[in-house]
Amino acid sequence: MSQHATPAERALSLREEIAQHNYRYYILDEPAVPDAEYDRLFNELKAIEDEHPDLVTPDSPTQRVGASPVSGLSEVTHLLPMLSLGNAFTDEELAAFDKHIGSQLGADRTKNVDLFAPPSVDYCCELKLDGFAVSLLYEQGKLVRAATRGDGTTGEDITHSIRTVKSIPLKLSGKGWPEVLEVRGEVFMPIAVFERLVDEAIRDGNKPFANPRNAAAGTMRQLDPRVVNSRKMSFCTYGVGFVSDEESLPNTQSGRLKQLHGWGFPAWWRSSKKYKSVQVRSGYLGCLEFYREIGRVRDSLPFEIDGVVYKVDNIDLQKQLGFRARNPKWAIAHKFPAREEITKLLEVEFQVGRTGAVTPVARLEPVKVGGVTVSNATLHNMDEIARLGLQIGDTVIIRRAGDVIPQVMQVVTERRPVDARPVEVPSNCPVCGSAVERTQLVKRGKSGSTTSEGSVYRCVGRLTCQAQLKQSIIHFVSRRAMDIDGLGEKSVEQLVDTGLVASPADLYRLTYEQVLALDGFAELSTKNLLTAIQASKSPTLARFIYALGIPDVGEETAKLLARALGTLERIERALPEVLVYLPDVGLEVAHEIHSFFADAHNRQVIDQLLERGVTPEEPGELAAEFAACVSLADFLARLNITGIASTGAERLASTFGSLDKILSADWLDLKQVERLNDKAIKALREFAENPGQRAHAEAVEQQLRDFGMHWDSPRAEAAGGLSLAGQTWVLTGTLEAMSRDVAKGYLESLGAKVAGSVSAKTHCVVAGPGAGSKLAKAEQLGVTVWTEQQLLDMLAEQGISA
Ligand code: IVH
Repeated sequence: MSQHATPAERALSLREEIAQHNYRYYILDEPAVPDAEYDRLFNELKAIEDEHPDLVTPDSPTQRVGASPVSGLSEVTHLLPMLSLGNAFTDEELAAFDKHIGSQLGADRTKNVDLFAPPSVDYCCELKLDGFAVSLLYEQGKLVRAATRGDGTTGEDITHSIRTVKSIPLKLSGKGWPEVLEVRGEVFMPIAVFERLVDEAIRDGNKPFANPRNAAAGTMRQLDPRVVNSRKMSFCTYGVGFVSDEESLPNTQSGRLKQLHGWGFPAWWRSSKKYKSVQVRSGYLGCLEFYREIGRVRDSLPFEIDGVVYKVDNIDLQKQLGFRARNPKWAIAHKFPAREEITKLLEVEFQVGRTGAVTPVARLEPVKVGGVTVSNATLHNMDEIARLGLQIGDTVIIRRAGDVIPQVMQVVTERRPVDARPVEVPSNCPVCGSAVERTQLVKRGKSGSTTSEGSVYRCVGRLTCQAQLKQSIIHFVSRRAMDIDGLGEKSVEQLVDTGLVASPADLYRLTYEQVLALDGFAELSTKNLLTAIQASKSPTLARFIYALGIPDVGEETAKLLARALGTLERIERALPEVLVYLPDVGLEVAHEIHSFFADAHNRQVIDQLLERGVTPEEPGELAAEFAACVSLADFLARLNITGIASTGAERLASTFGSLDKILSADWLDLKQVERLNDKAIKALREFAENPGQRAHAEAVEQQLRDFGMHWDSPRAEAAGGLSLAGQTWVLTGTLEAMSRDVAKGYLESLGAKVAGSVSAKTHCVVAGPGAGSKLAKAEQLGVTVWTEQQLLDMLAEQGISA
């Protein structure tokens, strides 16, 4: 605390400083200080208030998450009714609205002096956020009450929830605000927050919200402000309600939004510095232009909108036009095609994927959603069907957002027909007739391993199942795998159906005549395909591993395996207990990898690939950062011996220095180890005396030694370390000198991870022309932003000429 200020003075100045930072962060998108500094100020204020509770004020930023839940929501009568909006769904309806306004205003309109010019009204064009309408009442610049819209006349008091929304000021900034000011706007849940909430609900076995709008409403009506706080709601204002002194406000809707922004409210959203989601446009054609522009970016917005809103910009003209029963005559919502529709579930069919997963697919009565006819929707797995309580014949709500596959969101149980029937998993694969088995989840704990039912069913037929074989081949030849151009899905189907290809290795035996005989192949395309197959014979090890299609091994894991272990031979024989030392490889994935290579048929296919000339380019050496990466203590802690966790393992390691000595130590030796209790010693002795367990631990140790990951292995020279190791980079916009994939490869070769989204942990964002939201986010978070040239310069310094 400052030397001279009293606690009261210091609290006041901290509050002002924090409010200023909030304003810069949430309203201007220009944070002035890093998060840590903000937290420091906040904690200092909290400490003063804890010590002097009499200094706490309701507008203090520490009071956002109010103490305890409220017992219920009390009623609030709005000072002015909260109205709704009329809708236009077509261009014609919009034209009629504009024409009607033109005729109402007629000769009175101030704008057009030329009587022969077509009447043209200025409209303030805004986004129609799909959230939850709220009214915020400020008296003397302080938030005193927040309410839901309710029936428009009476709403509910949600002040406790609203206080947690960080972008809503508790105290107005700037000056000139009226004594009483009612601000209206939409509280909404960003899509990313919504998705996280759905994942959490599914994980915890709860029913998730159907869409961000329901989630926003459900959240704001929560009685416990801590729950609201955890859900990171956002706010945007679209106007005012009651105002004690109208003179204090500008005379246009657009001017008012600007003024509200100045007083501390988010009033529009910017996807880039150049772009504003609030614009004044002239006449019906100007509005249509705005509608189309927003329609193009709709799918890339970080929140849901269900349309745009046009409001006569001039407030005098608004007053002249007045209201209809519940809607203003001066505004209209121009809706986008709905993302949700209602339809009927006709059947559930099961598809077999590359890894044998038998997945349910909903066959629907065709319905138009967002301008596209939908007749199928994904159902993920049987747990999802159980969660939805879905039966065949049900009426369902489906949702299609952007390019995402349509999803079944909800069952309308009230409309369930009497002949509805439950969904059953077939006991045999619909393609090859092999048994379908439910996957087991293996959890290894201190008391051995336990299994539980997984949510995935698998056809056990592997490559004898034509569905799995076809998908495996399609994956094997795909661009990011072996990159064999010229082999489309149809040709793969033919190759499999005619029996010419029974495994990926058979591609390397195809003859000119065999290919030429396929539908759609002529001389040139045949030659091209055979050349492409030949050219694919020297893939990088990472591509080869990825192409094999090991369950749960995507491109990133494949790259990691190749880089970490260096040779196919090491990857093939790596034990799960060794694989788990690689970052992001969990026990489940480690077992998938191990059992893939333990499978005789898979080994045969790999051997055939190698025999037929496929030679993966192996880095050979273990990457520098994995050399001697496993410590003895870490190794011991992972043996899951009761009572031996990290500290006990550290002590054992430093006392004995080797696994052999620890396992050979007798009771008395072990008693010497500080704070190792009898229970732990007993468990350790039992482990050491169990021949199977001991031999396995020794085998794992031996493998760590062979691979160079063992604690005694030589460490890598500092110079051999990778310059960008541990860093996360993001590429966005168009790169001109090279493709993003190539740039990604270079960065990864220097040890960096290349991610798809920006967070506070991102080291650098390389932004080319056309960069949008990622660049904006980087700027907001204060992440370093580079041009492509800066990247090229850095690469050149590292000896990489792109
Ligand atoms: S103006 C008197 N502007 O849409 C005019 N409403 O369908 C009242 N909404 O209840 C509303 N974005 O919750 C207005 N830019 C916007 C809006 C907006 C979303 C919501 C609002 C309203 C509903 C009407």
